[in-house]
Amino acid sequence: MTLLPKALTDKRDVPRAFDAIARSYDVSTALNPGYNRHLRLSAERLRLPPGARILDLCCGTGCSTQALADAYPDAELIGLDGSEEMLARARRKPLSKRADFVLGDAMDPAQSAGIEGPFDGILMAYGIRNMSAPDECLRRIYDLLAPGGVICFHEYSVADSNRSKALWNAVCFGIIIPMGFVTATRSPIFRYLRKSVINFDGVRAFEQRLADHGFVDVHTEPMDGWQRGIVHSFLARKPA
Ligand SMILES: C[S@@+](CC[C@H](N)C(=O)[O-])C[C@H]1O[C@@H](n2cnc3c(N)ncnc32)[C@H](O)[C@@H]1O
Repeated sequence: MTLLPKALTDKRDVPRAFDAIARSYDVSTALNPGYNRHLRLSAERLRLPPGARILDLCCGTGCSTQALADAYPDAELIGLDGSEEMLARARRKPLSKRADFVLGDAMDPAQSAGIEGPFDGILMAYGIRNMSAPDECLRRIYDLLAPGGVICFHEYSVADSNRSKALWNAVCFGIIIPMGFVTATRSPIFRYLRKSVINFDGVRAFEQRLADHGFVDVHTEPMDGWQRGIVHSFLARKPA
């Protein structure tokens, strides 16, 4: 008999896995030094004008939406997520007076949730790595953006650096997986998290992927703290 939960191998099951850990999600992220401050950094890096229309893809319990609300107090905000339980938590927050929270599939926001562009800005925090077909998702994101609109992928990427890979593995095996075992023993999500980050594009490969989709001004900005070289703001713009 093993205490380990069955591995999460199909990315389409990720939202359901988040349903199961939604209750402890905000506590876990609050224990992660820099988590909310880094989301705010990525939100600010979009550099959007007043009154912008912004989509938060894979908004979860609304931590990333809160970062957008703080950075752009008069923006129109829509958050989309595939996990009903994560969204239920977002909808209970005062933030829900500032943002609409919609259930849908980030692989196809228009078809799954009737989300219509154009958006001046899109933030996708810890989302693109979880897509079953990232190129398809990028095509749809491109279509949702207004000409000149900007996107920020706030995401882990360690493949380009052995130091980053080693530090990520140490944080996962030393902290994230043991803590996950305490807060959600039967959840496969924390082991999935480690592997999905290890398998995700390196910084250069992801930048190239964005350029291949027609995005311009593609560049990457770093975080501070232990996340330096591990979490990044990947920024790009749709040509005007
Ligand atoms: C790590 S959480 C990030 C939440 C939030 N952006 C934040 O920064 O705290 C990832 C979220 O992506 C959502 N997700 C994963 N795959 C999805 C999909 N195909 N469509 C919509 N949401 C998805 C999960 O349900 C989960 O809420």
